[in-house]
Amino acid sequence: MHTDISPTVLITGGAGFIGSHLATELLQHGYHVRILDNLIPRVHGPERQQPGHLDRRVEFFTGDIRDLHCVQEALKGVDSVIHLAAVVGGRQSMYQIEKYVSVNTAGTATLLEALLDHPVKRLIVASSSAVYGEGLYCSYNGTIYPKVRRSPAQVAKGDWEPRSPEGEVIYPLPTPETKEASPLSIYAVSKYDQEEMCRMIGEAYGIPTVILRLFNVYGPHQGYASPYSGMLTEYAYRLLQGKSVYLFEDGYQQRDFVSVYDAVRAFRLALESPSATGGTFNIGSGRPHTFRTIADHLAVITGRQDLSPIITGIGRVGDIRHCVADISRAREILGYEPEIPLEAGLLDLTTWIRAEIEGWQKVPAPLEIPKPSRLPV
Ligand SMILES: NC(=O)c1ccc[n+]([C@@H]2O[C@H](COP(=O)([O-])OP(=O)(O)OC[C@H]3O[C@@H](n4cnc5c(N)ncnc54)[C@H](O)[C@@H]3O)[C@@H](O)[C@H]2O)c1
Repeated sequence: MHTDISPTVLITGGAGFIGSHLATELLQHGYHVRILDNLIPRVHGPERQQPGHLDRRVEFFTGDIRDLHCVQEALKGVDSVIHLAAVVGGRQSMYQIEKYVSVNTAGTATLLEALLDHPVKRLIVASSSAVYGEGLYCSYNGTIYPKVRRSPAQVAKGDWEPRSPEGEVIYPLPTPETKEASPLSIYAVSKYDQEEMCRMIGEAYGIPTVILRLFNVYGPHQGYASPYSGMLTEYAYRLLQGKSVYLFEDGYQQRDFVSVYDAVRAFRLALESPSATGGTFNIGSGRPHTFRTIADHLAVITGRQDLSPIITGIGRVGDIRHCVADISRAREILGYEPEIPLEAGLLDLTTWIRAEIEGWQKVPAPLEIPKPSRLPV
């Protein structure tokens, strides 16, 4: 239901995984949706075509978020903006530094400059759990550790669990928005930049701004290369091809996997909720799941319980051990409640991958076929 927010929403980066689902969610709730996206090859392939699954009712502007003129044109007649346009991925950001800072940080700066001449009723920014680095931890005696980091030497030894400065193992807690940011990659720094810039300009110019810190969003149409949950696409694909999945470390790392349908509903609530303005909200499922659990569920769904996961014992520098959302604030203020249980979400994901594979078998593969890019060499 609409409140006082007028119905034309610009989604930057709206042709991507989350954006395409968000467009459908908003259209179904009576909004007019415009997308500004430059269709980067990494997500959309070398032909840079609009995704076939994107709802045809959207109004599409092809353009770069860093091009002020393009952004100004895209903002004409728009009431609210949901800013998703970004290059995504921590590992790649550590060597494509300029690109990540340019698109994510400078691109957001361009959007904000354009908004000064075109005030909107609401600006919603897709931030990330990556800003936290590791999640919140505590010791056996209840001491809280808000800023934890495993050293490369610790990871190299296969000593996976984070430790206190005194060397004792510490335990993950649900991570609230109040936990100090501790970005561990240029990507995470750029997401934090986006938050800070939007908060600051929003306050200075009276643009009602909402920050959503998304956890590991998964669902149909997510490429295997996505650093968040692309491994779910990859695991299901491998199992359907009769291959075991590979798990890093010991497979007991905890993440918060949230269905894309829950995530896009959170965006709509952030758009509609009168008390959301000025807030920062974790959007996750609120439940911890290990990679082993995911692999086991997918083995059951694909009927390949005979294929045990291969535990590589390999740790990668920069990977976090555990991070799971405390979603109480989103529950209380946005009225957000995750509705898709993990099992149902994984079944939906697998059904999509199965259909994709069948499609590829009928016609010569038009799409990038998921490759097991994350396997250890
Ligand atoms: N997927 C997740 O689990 C997750 C988790 C946390 C945060 N996020 C954030 O959510 C947003 C969307 O993520 P996603 O998974 O849909 O990513 P995605 O890569 O599928 O989509 C990003 C879109 O942005 C577009 N884009 C990239 N550079 C652009 C530019 N210079 N100008 C205009 N458009 C550009 C791409 O073409 C793509 O369509 C991103 O801001 C990401 O940081 C995603």
